[in-house]
Amino acid sequence: MFVVAAGRGERLGAALPKAFVALRGEPLVSHAVRRLRASGVFDELVVAAPAEEVDRCVELFAAARVVPGGSTRQESVRNALAAIPSAVEVVLVHDAARPLVSAEVVRRVHDAARRHGAAMAAIPVTDTLKAVASDGTITATAHRESLWMAQTPQGFHTELLRQAHDAAARDGVEATDDAALVERLGHPVRVVEGSRTNLKITVPEDLAIAEALLAGGLIGD
Ligand code: CTP
Ligand code: MG
Repeated sequence: MFVVAAGRGERLGAALPKAFVALRGEPLVSHAVRRLRASGVFDELVVAAPAEEVDRCVELFAAARVVPGGSTRQESVRNALAAIPSAVEVVLVHDAARPLVSAEVVRRVHDAARRHGAAMAAIPVTDTLKAVASDGTITATAHRESLWMAQTPQGFHTELLRQAHDAAARDGVEATDDAALVERLGHPVRVVEGSRTNLKITVPEDLAIAEALLAGGLIGD
């Protein structure tokens, strides 16, 4: 299992890197790791941390391998890949920015990844999506029925994820998730049901929503 926690959190705008911002007194990355571990589907954990937080992560996650992250998410995943023992056949990648992930979603992704080689959690889009030109006028309306919002975890046969990252590095391609790199190899990626409560903390309002979900008892352990 990889947890990528090396982003700056520019859009959240906190004093700390986002993964270390507290939710109910506990850093986001600790919530994520605790919940991922509760799934029981993996033994090896690699955490990609901002350089200045590597020591803290070593303390927080004694059993994990901690690697310094890169300047992009993709580079952080590459650094984690270099640290995973080659005997690990299936690897899941999760964003520390999704602290409320459930064990059920983790297991679903893991099962599908083992079976199909590549899988990810996603949820159907509920809003109507518009393409908007720079002058503020709409140029197209998307067909919502076929659109899903990508989440993490995303899971892969380790060798396939390595190939995808090697190809992307060779071709100079940068993507915001790992599935996109596997897709461009022509390998199908299965979608499994994610969860609305597996939200990504991006802006301050998201932290407030996460707090409210926890306070309202809407998140299981
Ligand atoms: N991430 C990472 N290394 C990077 C950039 C991002 O490990 N160089 C991680 C983040 O820590 C986060 C996940 O990738 O858990 C998803 O990224 P995002 O939500 O964009 O987080 P940030 O990049 O930290 O936020 P922002 O884009 O607002 O700066
Ligand atoms: Mg980012």
